[in-house]
Amino acid sequence: MTNIERPAVRPADPRFSSGPCTKIPGFSLDMLNDAPLGRSHRASVGKSKLKAAIDGTRELLQIPEGYRVGIVPASDTGAVEMAMWSLLGERKATMVAWESFGAGWVTDCVKQLKIDADVVEADYGQLPDMTAIDWNTDVVFTWNGTTSGVRMPNGDAIPETREGLTICDATSAAFAQDLPWDKLDVVTFSWQKVLGGEAAHGVIVLSPRAIDRLESYTPAWPLPKIFRLTKGGKLNEGIFKGETINTPSMLCVEDYLVALDWARSVGGLTGLMQRADANAQAVWDFCESRDWIANLAEDPATRSNTSVCLKFTDGRIADASAFAKAVQKRLEAEGVALDVGAYRDAPAGLRIWCGGTVETADVEALMPWVEWAFHAELDAQAQAA
Ligand SMILES: Cc1ncc(COP(=O)(O)O)c(C=O)c1O
Repeated sequence: MTNIERPAVRPADPRFSSGPCTKIPGFSLDMLNDAPLGRSHRASVGKSKLKAAIDGTRELLQIPEGYRVGIVPASDTGAVEMAMWSLLGERKATMVAWESFGAGWVTDCVKQLKIDADVVEADYGQLPDMTAIDWNTDVVFTWNGTTSGVRMPNGDAIPETREGLTICDATSAAFAQDLPWDKLDVVTFSWQKVLGGEAAHGVIVLSPRAIDRLESYTPAWPLPKIFRLTKGGKLNEGIFKGETINTPSMLCVEDYLVALDWARSVGGLTGLMQRADANAQAVWDFCESRDWIANLAEDPATRSNTSVCLKFTDGRIADASAFAKAVQKRLEAEGVALDVGAYRDAPAGLRIWCGGTVETADVEALMPWVEWAFHAELDAQAQAA
């Protein structure tokens, strides 16, 4: 029996979910009092809020001039699907996946759109060889694999001159990792991730090359109204000024505006990246000094600073999945970590969200609890044997 004592300190906020992610520090519903509830989103007050959300996104993410930023329906999934259905099919595609969400985009492309595509895959924990990809095809990939904790280290593998478009699902990267805009033609994300906003609204960012494609190519398949980015063969510019395709929630818009203000107050993009880095470092340091837990990401350069995925490596563990679930349950029962189980399709383990809305002191307070829960569960396993 190891008989480790319960740590003295609990995280002030036990919310470490990878989406919806914990809200900004100090959040309260009172902060949303300025939401124009019961008013039309087409009224000037609604339009100005939507425009502020678009402008704030551009400012904070440092999106270059000439790129369009739009708020679209159905969260990040809506934004990715809209991009794929509107842009793919003009040329061959390459679908790149190294975890569950990327794999979902592969299925849509191959089984639903049925277009000519190469599929490039890697196991959980690994990144495929991105330098071996033919970037003259349209390439669809995820910047940060939320369910494996493996991210693109940078955009070096993507050539500046390429004939294909790069369509990048960056939902768990935007506001935490540097996105090389010149290498990315479509970037999508949802408010519910790094800024701790609400779900159901997606953001799509289009490069001038993506806009050219939209205006010069019409897919062979019909497009439902909520996917349509063009009108009469031209880009529907209204979408990128806040004239959303259908009705957005002005409460969610207000919540996003409040999160953007908070992001400015912590130093903007640099501040947000530093916060995520410090959080992830606290987990990495903990794992580094233990021989029973490790990062799922094999190459340190690809370790995510948002969705940090961990696996238990102790040889005494009989059933990896049951063990990880039991540890998670203990953490939850103690009220020190909510929603930290590995994603349902991912290898057994823990996933600790480290995006900027999480406080480093809370990550630091959680780590001794992980140690406690690990030993408590090992003891329970030994006793049951
Ligand atoms: C990489 C990735 N893509 C897509 C999604 C789906 O996002 P949403 O539910 O906001 O549409 C998620 C959600 O976790 C994700 O992590």
